[in-house]
Amino acid sequence: MKTDRVIIFDTTLRDGEQCPGASMNLAEKLAIARQLAKLRVDVIEGGFPVISQGDFDSVNTIAKEIKGPIVCGLARCVTKDIDAAGEAVKPAGKRGRIHVFLATSKIHREFKLGKAQDEIIRLAVDGVKRAKSWTDDVEFSPEDGSRTEPDFLVDVCKAVIAAGATTVNIPDTVGWAVPDQYAALIGRLHESVREFQTGKAVISVHCHNDLGLAVANSLAAVRAGARQIECTVNGIGERAGNAALEELVMAMKTRRDYFGDIECGIDSREIVKSSRIVSRMSSFLVQRNKAIVGENAFAHSSGIHQDGILKKRETYEIMDPQEVGWGATELPLTKHSGRAAVVMRLKHLGFKLSDPDINALFIRFKEVGDKKKFVYDDDLASLVDGQIAKVPETWSLHQLSVTAGNQTVPTATVGLSKTGKDATILREAAIGDGPVDAAVKAIDRITGVRGELKDYSLRAVSEGEDALGEVTLKADFGDGELITGKGASTDIIEASARAYLNALNRHLSRKEPKQHSANRP
Ligand code: KIV
Ligand code: ZN
Repeated sequence: MKTDRVIIFDTTLRDGEQCPGASMNLAEKLAIARQLAKLRVDVIEGGFPVISQGDFDSVNTIAKEIKGPIVCGLARCVTKDIDAAGEAVKPAGKRGRIHVFLATSKIHREFKLGKAQDEIIRLAVDGVKRAKSWTDDVEFSPEDGSRTEPDFLVDVCKAVIAAGATTVNIPDTVGWAVPDQYAALIGRLHESVREFQTGKAVISVHCHNDLGLAVANSLAAVRAGARQIECTVNGIGERAGNAALEELVMAMKTRRDYFGDIECGIDSREIVKSSRIVSRMSSFLVQRNKAIVGENAFAHSSGIHQDGILKKRETYEIMDPQEVGWGATELPLTKHSGRAAVVMRLKHLGFKLSDPDINALFIRFKEVGDKKKFVYDDDLASLVDGQIAKVPETWSLHQLSVTAGNQTVPTATVGLSKTGKDATILREAAIGDGPVDAAVKAIDRITGVRGELKDYSLRAVSEGEDALGEVTLKADFGDGELITGKGASTDIIEASARAYLNALNRHLSRKEPKQHSANRP
């Protein structure tokens, strides 16, 4: 590998998933991992295997199914963590990486760990050696690296590299760094550690966005010698998020005059598609004015700008929108489209569904096709999303009718069926503050589970009067945990009821006893 090649390490499925409300199921994570492979990221960090069965399964399944990128699992410098990560990445063979971390800054040493510098080095070295017994590809992160004394950080880097680490990542864990200072730190490590110069070890950066500087810090670090950037699609992540992959990649590509020959392997035409999939699967909407992937990123409303663009695009556009995958629209499907056409379009959109899932999706496709003239790619993705986000359906919607208006008390009657029961439809009616509230109350009466809506958003998936409305909501079913639900329909009350049932079914399925894999440490 050329020394000016920057490795793109994607942590959407690990650090990205750590942002509250973004947790995803295995099918959702796999859909993202498949798209990340198409985007050609170099490394996928699939989770933190020791912390839950879900994380273990995520890393393990990605390691089994996704070809191309390195598959990585996170671990503290603790034997059981490292062994869980080792087991999880094993199916990836030589493409398996273990990422061990241990805090090194004074404040973490004194107040969190209660350990002196020499003990930190000993633990870090032991952790790396243990990881090395599972795979050759071992990364070490001194957590809170940006606030660690630089001399000590040099010692840590040297020690872990001597123990076998092939990548050392310097996290700006709390988003404290500013570009010049962070670049100076990376430059100093580069100068002081010979292996970073010879390419025997790679210096990596991992920046959080608490001051809105994650991308700027990462790019400054690349100029100072970093050759791996850790980032997430749409910049999702803990608190204010991580450095956004799309911004980093396009900054390096668009400003080659400034960054020189630094290159990465990303296929930028897959960026918008990746952003949409991550937004859907994580239920995190992308702000309209978000760089590169926001809906307004290439929208010019000023007459002067529009005139300039028509005369020469580069007058007001520094990137070609098609270069990042905007505008790749295809002919929409209609209710007359057959199963094969739907399957082909799904493939084009990056989805791989099982036969039973395709059958269920095709039924919903026909229902929507009956109500809408055209079924656009976004409509289809929304239906897939509903299918993937689906959990065992304890309760399903059979019928819904609502009366509402400015002179009437909103009333809903709902019919639900319960899996495993005979075909009996249970019905209830309720009044509420609005039609959605009335529908939710009627559902609660049937199921006997009381939920409280905490967050609700509605968006039109495609354009036009018959656009599909997609509802994403969060509900609390009494245990303080916020459960996300999604639903889509041309009728927004029906979409709301479907989203609420999706959240309820998710809540009920989590309460069922889990099966544990034999591999679990
Ligand atoms: O922000 C951080 O320090 C991390 C490490 C585990 C790399 O996410
Ligand atoms: Zn982080």
